[in-house]
Amino acid sequence: MSQRESFSEERSAEVVAASFAGTPDPRLRQVLTSLVEHLHAFVKDVELTEEEWGAAIAFLTATGQTCDDVRQEFVLLSDVLGVSMLVETINHRTGGQSTESTVLGPFHMVDSPPRELGADIALDGKGNPCLVTGRVTGPDGEPLGGALVDVWQANDDGFYDVQQPGIQPERNLRGLFTTDSDGRFWFRTIVPRHYPIPDDGPVGRLLAATGRHPNRPAHVHFIVTADGHRPVTTHLFVDDSPYLDSDAVFGVKDSLVRPFPVVDDAARAAEVGLPNPFRTVHFDVALLRGDQAPPAAQPAEVAPTVVRGAPGGSPE
Ligand SMILES: [Fe+2]
Repeated sequence: MSQRESFSEERSAEVVAASFAGTPDPRLRQVLTSLVEHLHAFVKDVELTEEEWGAAIAFLTATGQTCDDVRQEFVLLSDVLGVSMLVETINHRTGGQSTESTVLGPFHMVDSPPRELGADIALDGKGNPCLVTGRVTGPDGEPLGGALVDVWQANDDGFYDVQQPGIQPERNLRGLFTTDSDGRFWFRTIVPRHYPIPDDGPVGRLLAATGRHPNRPAHVHFIVTADGHRPVTTHLFVDDSPYLDSDAVFGVKDSLVRPFPVVDDAARAAEVGLPNPFRTVHFDVALLRGDQAPPAAQPAEVAPTVVRGAPGGSPE
């Protein structure tokens, strides 16, 4: 006779977790044990009906069947449940010393072309012209010359180049810049527009059923890397964009939102090579040194990480 305890409603989690007690890999054992405990607690909490269980299986099946080479519906599900941002945030704590990270997103699927500082990445010239400036430093403000600043963004209609082959030029609104000896970078672009995540699949139906919109606020993606430092994957958010308070994937952190003021100065416009008037934004990026220990989690009351994104919020 087995030494295993029989299944019961009261002891279900313990009984199932015990079945994994012999897992050789200790991390796998820890993850599965915790998963079972939380999953059983959830089922008991809501007293899941058989119909709801069936609906959940059908939903997850449809989610898998929606995935293909260019569509990852499970990542999208993780995104709208805030799990992607939680994993990102846990694994890239800043300790208040470096630029906060946010999700990579699905549109970094092609390499950004290397460009000279000051280049215009808006290859089709459509949209509101904008000068982006910034500086890459270490945690103590020391400038990092030779750092790589990889940027990509949606156009004035809210689409990435890879979503509109034949409409946008290839590699439109993408660039790989190298900072000067003072850690500075600058380039010309257009102000990006907000856009919806794909909402024609199971995740879109989940959003619709819960009164949530699928939109992300306007942003420019950044990956910044420098020798001897921890890279950061992040966004620069446009402070007058709709949906800043209700990002469908919870990617907004207050520290990443910047004003994009209008400059109406013909001489300055001529100097930077943009039509007058134009908009500007400044975004400094601080990186942790590679030999710094990763910061530990801090109690929420000591160092709150302000993540905007209340579900169901309406655009202002
Ligand atoms: Fe994006």
